[in-house]
Amino acid sequence: MLKKIKPEIAYRLINHGPIALITTINKNNKPNIMTIAWTSVVNSEPPLVAIAVGNQAYSQKSIKESKEFVMNIPDKKLMRSILYCGNHTGENINKFKASKLTTINSKIVKAPKIKECFAHLECKVVKKYRYSDVLFFISKVVYADVEEKYFDESINTDKIKTVHHLGGGWFAEIGKRFKE
Ligand SMILES: Cc1cc2nc3c(=O)[nH]c(=O)nc-3n(C[C@H](O)[C@H](O)[C@H](O)COP(=O)(O)O)c2cc1C
Repeated sequence: MLKKIKPEIAYRLINHGPIALITTINKNNKPNIMTIAWTSVVNSEPPLVAIAVGNQAYSQKSIKESKEFVMNIPDKKLMRSILYCGNHTGENINKFKASKLTTINSKIVKAPKIKECFAHLECKVVKKYRYSDVLFFISKVVYADVEEKYFDESINTDKIKTVHHLGGGWFAEIGKRFKE
């Protein structure tokens, strides 16, 4: 039997791409980290991804100004930082210090990446769309790297567990991978 759900919670059926930690740098060269669940692949060639960033996020301002960011992929061991960076704004605090995460230089963009994350996508914004309180940044991946031992043709989810936000305070870790 099919159960009707409210359109407002329909996103919970497709919500569970991996949570990312978005790093940015502001005009004063202060780095920041924001937790994000609403991401999308847009294209593979040219490589495009998109993120939906609400007005509540200070990171929105930094991305608008710098037109770039890094999408860092954490695993389940970083759950505390995922929650911290998603529940505190970095306008007046340094979330790298507060959550004991380490910056490493990016190859192309100015925003740093997070050492403790196993993968990083350096992105440059190519288009932005506003709808109400949210800005949707379509961005080109200009450089990407991933911890060698966790990636062959895909993320080896038997070895590393990405975290997925299901909505309503629920999370899941990824399961075993298989090939068809
Ligand atoms: C699990 C989780 C997922 C989140 N996903 C998003 C998201 O997709 N888009 C968004 O605008 N905010 C999202 N947030 C909220 C931001 O991370 C939050 O507003 C954060 O404080 C912004 O940080 P900033 O002000 O330093 O930029 C999420 C928070 C959590 C805990």
